Order: sequence, then C-alpha cells, then structure tokens
Amino acid sequence: MNILITGSNGQLGNTMRVLSKEHPKHHYFLTDVVEADGVSVLDITDKQAVSVFVEANAIDLIVNCAAYTNVDKAEEDEATAMKINAEALQVLGSQGVKVLHISTDYVFSGDEHVPCRETDPVGPRTAYGRTKYEGEKRLLAVCPEAVILRTAWLYSEYGNNFVKTMIKLGKERKELGVVFDQIGTPTYATDLAKAIYTVIETPVWHPGIYHFTNEGVCSWFDFTLAIHDLAGITDCRVRPILSEEYAYKTPRPHYSVLDKSKFKKTFNVQIPHWLDGLKRCMKSLHS
Ligand SMILES: NC(=O)c1ccc[n+]([C@@H]2O[C@H](COP(=O)([O-])OP(=O)(O)OC[C@H]3O[C@@H](n4cnc5c(N)ncnc54)[C@H](OP(=O)(O)O)[C@@H]3O)[C@@H](O)[C@H]2O)c1
Repeated sequence: MNILITGSNGQLGNTMRVLSKEHPKHHYFLTDVVEADGVSVLDITDKQAVSVFVEANAIDLIVNCAAYTNVDKAEEDEATAMKINAEALQVLGSQGVKVLHISTDYVFSGDEHVPCRETDPVGPRTAYGRTKYEGEKRLLAVCPEAVILRTAWLYSEYGNNFVKTMIKLGKERKELGVVFDQIGTPTYATDLAKAIYTVIETPVWHPGIYHFTNEGVCSWFDFTLAIHDLAGITDCRVRPILSEEYAYKTPRPHYSVLDKSKFKKTFNVQIPHWLDGLKRCMKSLHS
C-alpha cells in the first residue's frame, strides 16, 4: 500500500515513521505543515494540495496524525482549531481512499465514573474537544468506512509532553504540586502506533470508532511519582493537589478513562499496562 502519514513531525507521526521500518512492504509518504528531514510539506487544510498529492502518489490509505493539539490556545482561536481538526477531515475523507484518524478523550465531558465506551454520549467541554468531535462527524459523513481511534494522555520521545516536563521540573525544583483528582490512562505513542499498524495489517478492514490507550488508570500525581522513580529523581517532593489549586486556563476532564474492549476484541490484541509503556519510553529517552 501507499500510505500517507500527515503530521509526521508530531509525537505520533514521528513514532509512526520509526515503526514503519518494521512494516517495509508498504511505501510511506511522510508529510507535515512544516518541512523536515524526510518530511515533505502538506497542509491538510489545503484541499487542492491534498487532492494533487493523493492522486500523484496513488495513495491507498491516509493515516491522519496531524492536529491542532494546544488545548489552551484552542480556546482563544477555535476557528483555526476547527479548520485543522474538523474542516480538514472533510478534505481527507473525500479523497476516495481509506482513512485512519486519531481522536481524543476530550470528546467526553469527563463527568463519568466508569470507563467510556464508543457508544457513550459525548459532551466536549473545551474548544479542542468540540473541534475534534466535529472532525469525527465530518469524516464519517464523507467517509463512513473510516477508522477513528480515540486516545488519551499521549507521550513519546518526541516534542513536548508531560513526561519530559515532569523530568525537567523534577530536576529543577525541590517541590512540585501535581493534581490527583484527574484520572485517566497515559498512552505511550509507540503502543498507539503499534495499534495503528495492527489495524493496517489486519486483512479485513473494520471501520468505526475505537478507544485505544494503555491499560490501567492513574492520576497525574501517580504518573509523576512513577516518572520520577524511573528517572532516579529523589530530591523533589511531589505533592498531591486538587485541580482547583492549579491555575488551569481550560477545564480538564476529571475522569477520562476509555474502555478498550471493542479494540481488543476486534483486533484480538493485548495492550500493555501504562507503567510498562512508561518504562520503555524512559529507557529509550536514556539511550
Ligand atoms: N497529545 C495528547 O495528549 C493527545 C491526547 C489525545 C489525543 N491526541 C490526538 O492524537 C493525535 C496525535 O497527537 P500528537 O500529540 O502526536 O500531536 P502533535 O505532536 O501536536 O503533532 C501534530 C502535528 O500536526 C501538525 N499540523 C498542524 N496543523 C497541520 C496542518 N494544517 N497540516 C499538516 N500538519 C499539521 C503539527 O505541526 P505544528 O506543531 O507545526 O502545528 C504537528 O507536527 C492528534 O489527533 C491528537 O488530537 C493527542
């Protein structure tokens, strides 16, 4: 297959690129809005450019890793977030090729106390969540055969993310307050990318919305303790705080655990626990 990967400079896009070496039977086209080594320019909001690219390279499948992911900035500029997270999905979905798209736990309100299933009602509380939900709808309207994977708390070796921030702050500070009343599941981008390749390699294409994170649950506080433990940071006291004590610009979901039963059953896979994913990421960051 000729596979177009958008957002190749991002956390997931970079990880998809690394893992593509384990799937050499496909031909990969790595793109992003900004040019980089081995990555060519393709703005997913540019309808004409996307059509020309897909046709010229006989693309069979688009894996959309591109997104507007800054949750706070999206509140101030929802129009731009809507363009990238929703309008562009109409463009990608209208090319007459398969599409695998990534969405988010932010489509839910975060008010539940049990893991969210794909069929549960959505209720985004943020501009980011609204634009991502709109993207799901627009994609499925023009491409009902699309696969959408909703994920959460993504981290990797690339770019800025919670793991890297906590390592940095842990080395700089003697004390750190981290919220303990937001519960979710950290997801190592390598495990999400492996799940994407599982979807791609499965002989039968199973369209629909799926939830995918690592296994288990924790708070950001617990996650930080594990990060510091694995990083050997011993002289920073991590203090549990309430969300109301932290000056969030944008509301965060209190409970955003995703039920992954549908993905595991459909693709017959086991998913590693979040601590296992974190250990592998930390090892990779060290080397
Ligand atoms: N990060 C998380 O915690 C998290 C949680 C749940 C779901 N997700 C979803 O997972 C997916 C991957 O997230 P990620 O963390 O890998 O995101 P990321 O690191 O922010 O990467 C997204 C990439 O898309 C690029 N991009 C932005 N606008 C574009 C455009 N118009 N055309 C082409 N490329 C464009 C970005 O470039 P610039 O940086 O230059 O804008 C960036 O390189 C996204 O769909 C995200 O919504 C992420």
